[in-house]
Amino acid sequence: MKSYPIEGKYRIGIEEMDAQHAYWIHLIEEFRRTASGHLIDGQGLSAAKHALGQLLEYTREHFRSEEIFIEARGYPHMDAHRRQHAELEAEVVKLLDEIVAHKTNTTPLKLNLFVTVWLMEHIMEHDKDYARFLRERAAA
Ligand SMILES: [Fe+2]
Ligand SMILES: [Fe+2]
Repeated sequence: MKSYPIEGKYRIGIEEMDAQHAYWIHLIEEFRRTASGHLIDGQGLSAAKHALGQLLEYTREHFRSEEIFIEARGYPHMDAHRRQHAELEAEVVKLLDEIVAHKTNTTPLKLNLFVTVWLMEHIMEHDKDYARFLRERAAA
């Protein structure tokens, strides 16, 4: 996994997770870049499909890794966090299905780019919650 810098607003203060988030955000941005262009041609579509496939794969990897990380440290809201991950993962799967199904119609894809915004919001809201828990517990 290549390492990427992470923007301050996404930093949760846990090195291992910040590194994973930085790579994940890089893949999200890659996908947004390919998907916001002109996808009418087959080449653009296949680039977007490829980028989203990679994003889905790493989304799964990061979520599993993070769940193991926070569960091992006694985070009390595991069920809710797991559910959030499952919902986000399902949205990415849906988006990938849409790209595959709508081979030439790019409207649904453009409309659904907000899925990628939810992914980033998850870090800022929910991942920061476990980071706060771990920090407070370490200080106690
Ligand atoms: Fe995360
Ligand atoms: Fe998370």
